[in-house]
Amino acid sequence: MKRRIIAALLATTMAVALTVGCDIKDIGKVVSEKTEKKEDTSAKITIGFSQVGVESDWRLANTDSMKTTFSEENGYKLIVKNAGQKQENQVAAIREFIEEKVDYIVLAPVTEDGWDVVLKEAKDAGIPVIVVDRMVDVSDDSLYTAWIGSDFEMESEKVCAWLKAYADAKGMKEINIAHIQGTEGASAQIGRTDGLETAAKEYGWNIVATQTGEFTKNKGRDAMEAMLKAKSNINVVYCENDNEAAGAIEAIEAAGKTVGPDGDILVLSFDATNDGLKNVLSGKIACDAECNPLHGPRVEDVIKKLEKKEKVDQILYVEEEMFAYDDTVTSVKIGEQEYKVTPVTERVIDERAY
Ligand code: AHR
Repeated sequence: MKRRIIAALLATTMAVALTVGCDIKDIGKVVSEKTEKKEDTSAKITIGFSQVGVESDWRLANTDSMKTTFSEENGYKLIVKNAGQKQENQVAAIREFIEEKVDYIVLAPVTEDGWDVVLKEAKDAGIPVIVVDRMVDVSDDSLYTAWIGSDFEMESEKVCAWLKAYADAKGMKEINIAHIQGTEGASAQIGRTDGLETAAKEYGWNIVATQTGEFTKNKGRDAMEAMLKAKSNINVVYCENDNEAAGAIEAIEAAGKTVGPDGDILVLSFDATNDGLKNVLSGKIACDAECNPLHGPRVEDVIKKLEKKEKVDQILYVEEEMFAYDDTVTSVKIGEQEYKVTPVTERVIDERAY
């Protein structure tokens, strides 16, 4: 902030001296007038946002949320750099932001590892870094100012608790799971995989096949196709996001099998996007845990506090809901906490912003 104000004043002073040609004693007066007039353009907060890519509907909604929040009209200049799912592109983007002397860097990291060096460079340049969505695993936590995102393992625990309760209610004897993972090393993959593996051990479920779907519809379809060819006993597919689930559903149907509560395979998913919830409404996805992508206003909150030199929480978890096709299971309990399961209706979908 200080850097921005000084730069704006210096630029204004020089412009005034060159163009007006006035006595040095008048400069103070003119500067204050000019500063007032120029405030609209020179006082904008510049934010460099390094985004993972465009792999999912969730990601598009997340980018949109940033763009809507950090608009010119709201007093920001937002520079978005899309990394195409590659960490090296994110590192290069952060270095460009440092070079451009942005006021804040917002990072949605593709994976958790590999950030120490470049985040130290940002810290040395005095630029606060706000991490969103997935976490960074760094040796020194002071390398980032705040993190805002989801408890991915909790999302998984909720879905697994739902499956346990649902299977008990329906008398499902054996659970044979095909597991379609997200991008390896991403917090969303790590948390959702850990949750499933822990539950499988606890409840005696079989994870019969595991393959990455990289959070995309096409790779989700390919993974499901391959797993159906390799294993004939799959009765549950655990997809780590809605796009993978959409691809998996296509592959299951193409193989002549059915999805849904009365079908051959139960589909479980994460995100609860508009399209994901449409699949829940039709019964194609049985249970979907929300992963909320609307981080723009949350990041703005942090930035506003930092601008006022107020303290911010370093870790901010987002509260999230869960949805199911029917009301066989109305709530799940994780520890002492009870989570409501909402049966999806047209109205629930209409109320979704993404
Ligand atoms: O990190 C969040 C995950 O990344 C979302 O579940 C997924 O859709 C996105 O690509």
